[in-house]
Amino acid sequence: MTLSVEEIDKKYNVRPFVDPQPTSIDVNPLTLTAIDLSLFREGEDGLESRQKLASILESSVTTYGFFNIINFGIDNDHIEHLRAVSQSVLTIPHEEKLKYLASAARKEDEKPGNIGGERGQGFKPKGYWAIKNGVRDSIDFYNVRDTYHDDFLNHPERHPELLQAHLKEIADYYNYLHRVILPQILRLCDLILKIPEGSLLNHYFKNSGTNQDTSGSHGRLMLYQPYDEETSLKETENMYLRGHSDISALTFITSQPILSLQIKDVYSGNWRYVNHRPNSLIVNIGDALEFISGGHFKACLHRVVQPPRDQVGFNRLIIIYFCNPSNESELDPEVLNSPTLARLGLTKEDKLKEWQKIQFHDWNDTKGQLLGRSEAGERNLLKFYGRFIERWHHFPLET
Ligand SMILES: [Fe+2]
Repeated sequence: MTLSVEEIDKKYNVRPFVDPQPTSIDVNPLTLTAIDLSLFREGEDGLESRQKLASILESSVTTYGFFNIINFGIDNDHIEHLRAVSQSVLTIPHEEKLKYLASAARKEDEKPGNIGGERGQGFKPKGYWAIKNGVRDSIDFYNVRDTYHDDFLNHPERHPELLQAHLKEIADYYNYLHRVILPQILRLCDLILKIPEGSLLNHYFKNSGTNQDTSGSHGRLMLYQPYDEETSLKETENMYLRGHSDISALTFITSQPILSLQIKDVYSGNWRYVNHRPNSLIVNIGDALEFISGGHFKACLHRVVQPPRDQVGFNRLIIIYFCNPSNESELDPEVLNSPTLARLGLTKEDKLKEWQKIQFHDWNDTKGQLLGRSEAGERNLLKFYGRFIERWHHFPLET
């Protein structure tokens, strides 16, 4: 007997995810710049509007590497529904999760060369990583990969029952970000680099969003469950996820009220909470786009910590999309001949002398193997291909 979607939702108690109230404690959060994508106009007539958005975006991508997008064409009710489904997917019994693991149940038990719980399709269950002093992580997530391939919808059996019932809706969300929003943001980046619009997409994102897309972009449904306060304070120094930069070109995260995400302030070097902007996505630059822009755009360190006291004890649920360039794309700006980068000396002849020629898969594989391992911590800088794995602005900021 096949159950209807309604019956499946009932079986898994799909219900709205309840966020706590915004914090009333002043923690001096950083308010990100908002890019209003409803102002993005096509054609020659729209160039002025795009130029305006690009100049607003420029100050964000070249400093914090984080910004918000608003009015991006997806209704908030739709995102809340995805969060409701995610809540139930991520809380199915542990034994059920073990049937759909992204890799092993614990990092230590992974086979060498495995793509890992971080990037594989399926569950990364709570406790996969060792965080500190014997405490393991308190994060459940489920990854979906290559949602733009026909294969994704043709093989529902790869996913648990509840996810199967909502597979198309999940694919539609991610594919919209990949096929509609990614090109818009890249065109604004083209304008910042003073190169023809479409250059970044054409050179680095071959066959973007099609069956031939080799980028391995992936979505993630992610649930943080609180530690008891004592464990968190004593053993993990309030850390849920330690500082890192993303491997991706761009990462999209649903904004929600719990202040837990922190980024390293580009000016003071201090960690700062990122403010919640309702009905927005948080977007950040990852390593790949930092390299493609010759280091002009910053893939900033960020981490997840215990929220302010009045938000402790609540579950935190986010939906993420890691959007990558194609596997074969070369991670340097040479082919672009950008006047902006030439002016800043971000060229092979000047500041990029040390950079070895690499393709995206080189970086993805090298850094991917280090994810979740203690030797790749933020205090131990590791350098590969002339670039730091955990990077923090390798070139001095323009003053
Ligand atoms: Fe991240």
